[in-house]
Amino acid sequence: MNTAASTTAASRLSNTALFGRAEMVIPGGVNSPVRAFGSVGGTPYFVAQAEGAYVTDVEGNRYIDYVQSYGPSILGHAHSAVTQAVQNAAALGTSYGAPTHSEVRLAEEICGRVAGVEMVRLVSSGTEATMTAIRVARAATGRDRIVKFAGNYHGHCDALLVAGGSGIAQQGLVGSAGVTEGAVADTVVAPYNVVPTLDETVAAVVVEPVAANMGLVEPVEGFLEGLRVACSEVGALLIFDEVITGFRLCFGGAAQWYGIRPDIWCFGKVIGGGLPMGALGASVAIMNNLAPLGGVYQAGTLSGNPLATAAGLATLEHLTTDAFRKLVDISTYLQQGMTEAFEAAGVAACVPRVGPLLGLFFGANPPTDFDSAKAICDNGIYAKFFHKMLSRRVAFAPGAYEAIFTSLAHTETELDATIAACAETAKEL
Ligand SMILES: Cc1ncc(COP(=O)(O)O)c(C=O)c1O
Repeated sequence: MNTAASTTAASRLSNTALFGRAEMVIPGGVNSPVRAFGSVGGTPYFVAQAEGAYVTDVEGNRYIDYVQSYGPSILGHAHSAVTQAVQNAAALGTSYGAPTHSEVRLAEEICGRVAGVEMVRLVSSGTEATMTAIRVARAATGRDRIVKFAGNYHGHCDALLVAGGSGIAQQGLVGSAGVTEGAVADTVVAPYNVVPTLDETVAAVVVEPVAANMGLVEPVEGFLEGLRVACSEVGALLIFDEVITGFRLCFGGAAQWYGIRPDIWCFGKVIGGGLPMGALGASVAIMNNLAPLGGVYQAGTLSGNPLATAAGLATLEHLTTDAFRKLVDISTYLQQGMTEAFEAAGVAACVPRVGPLLGLFFGANPPTDFDSAKAICDNGIYAKFFHKMLSRRVAFAPGAYEAIFTSLAHTETELDATIAACAETAKEL
């Protein structure tokens, strides 16, 4: 791209003008609700470019970015290995409707990282992964009911939208209009961090092993273990939605982190390196239910897309055990700095951390379930914090229910600047 030309073009744009134009042609002006700033107020910034730990908007404002595309950009924005891999792949064609070497390599890479994942089916989003996982679980067990947890978000498939976290919670919705009673009749919602009583009508229990869509809520000791036991006792399948935790928490994701083996895994975000990608994985026996081998139909024009698989492979290649150690150090540094800044200013806030995953709650104690998370997330303080940080050129997610995403490109320079901005902001809260 010609940077000078694009900067000149961008300098003629303003966030307000673009949002006005967007609202005329895109519902709410955005293609994913949280981006509209609905719960924090104000006008979203429109990104013109991003690099490493930074995003720059169309007005030329440069922000230290902790959105990082809500997870995929774990190496930092526009990492040269990823952009080069995408460019190389694009030069060979963008989609074929036929299998490729690259998708085999990505499938091998995922299977190689996670004990128990013997096969994967690549799809184009996390939503498709969870939707298909449920279909497979129902077919494999011959049962209908699904148990999900309040405040967990699994994408926007009808059966799983009820009591969702993330954007649904931000809008104060309990589910979605347009979802029929029939579509959720077999969905049971249970409180997070409590092992539900199951029976032999349950096909699957789907869980975010670390809840990262109601802020960051860690599983209490015994919760995931209890789910494993409860599922095995009644023959239900345990589905780990690792769309966020997969290859962000550690080399093998949450299953490795907690030493618990679910029956089905869902992946997304990091495995596409910033391009549309998702996957579900399981044993050969479970995956054989999928067409063309079995009766569970699932397909996709762009599934296993060569650009997305190239970006995903380039990303995973950099995600070594050492890289995760570094990412944990980065997040720990930020956690400690922010915590001290809030303490010094006398602001009741906590910055929970699970490995490299971070959250932020403006309350004295970290919540353990959706009700306690909502009580804090809806207290209005986050919106003030968000705008004061944004004016200091630090971009957190525009919603209290989202996690904080660090990347390997965040150095002490960015972290210290963030902590300094946080200290000034804390005094004003
Ligand atoms: C845990 C979890 N599962 C599923 C999804 C849906 O993924 P996608 O937005 O790619 O459809 C998300 C998205 O944020 C998520 O956080």
